[in-house]
Amino acid sequence: MTLTVALSKGKLIAGSEALFRRAGLPFPATGGRRLVVATDGLRFLFVKDMDVPVYVEHGVADCGIAGRDVLLETGGDLYEPVDLRFGRCRLVVARLAGAAAPPGSTVRVASKYARVAAAHFQERGITAEVIRLSGSVEIAPGLGLADCIVDVVETGRTLADNGLEAVEEVAASSARLIVNRASYHARRDEVGRLIAALRAASTAPDQVAPERSARA
Ligand code: PRP
Repeated sequence: MTLTVALSKGKLIAGSEALFRRAGLPFPATGGRRLVVATDGLRFLFVKDMDVPVYVEHGVADCGIAGRDVLLETGGDLYEPVDLRFGRCRLVVARLAGAAAPPGSTVRVASKYARVAAAHFQERGITAEVIRLSGSVEIAPGLGLADCIVDVVETGRTLADNGLEAVEEVAASSARLIVNRASYHARRDEVGRLIAALRAASTAPDQVAPERSARA
């Protein structure tokens, strides 16, 4: 039976394709609109980044590629055997450049990563009102929706272009291979071969590049 791989068409797609090609594995053309694509021996699902772990945890996909940032937010009972070492970025707290910490006792935080943000401030004993957004969170402080944001920083351009600066790191992230626990046991040989191929490709010399994206 064909293994199913869940991927996001977001920031990790180019690195995922490069990884599969280095591993000598099939990979579909990414230009099309079809969201379920069968290739030679693998079937690919293209879903939103936050949904990759959902498809894998529920066993619709045997495995997937998701950022650690996403996995921290979604939780879930998944096997995470390989740090794929691309898609490096940081989850940070950012606020308007030069702005002081808000005077009130509650910090308003806008984020796609609502659970991560809530846990971050709770651990520091800071009361936070977390406002969940779906994207473009960098505009929230300038428009008065929030005092700060928790978001992913890669190059730092989006922060800078929207007048924000990172003030605190929440977590470092990179792409991770995730595997459904039942698939890992029930389809040990096929899944094991896929894990081994992707692990080897993730440590291939051209992959161990400088921390180009330990950005911003
Ligand atoms: C992410 C993140 C930032 C941007 C950071 O957005 O939310 O907006 O990338 O990248 P940079 O530091 O290189 O500017 P993404 O493109 O994933 O879209 P989103 O707004 O849907 O989160």
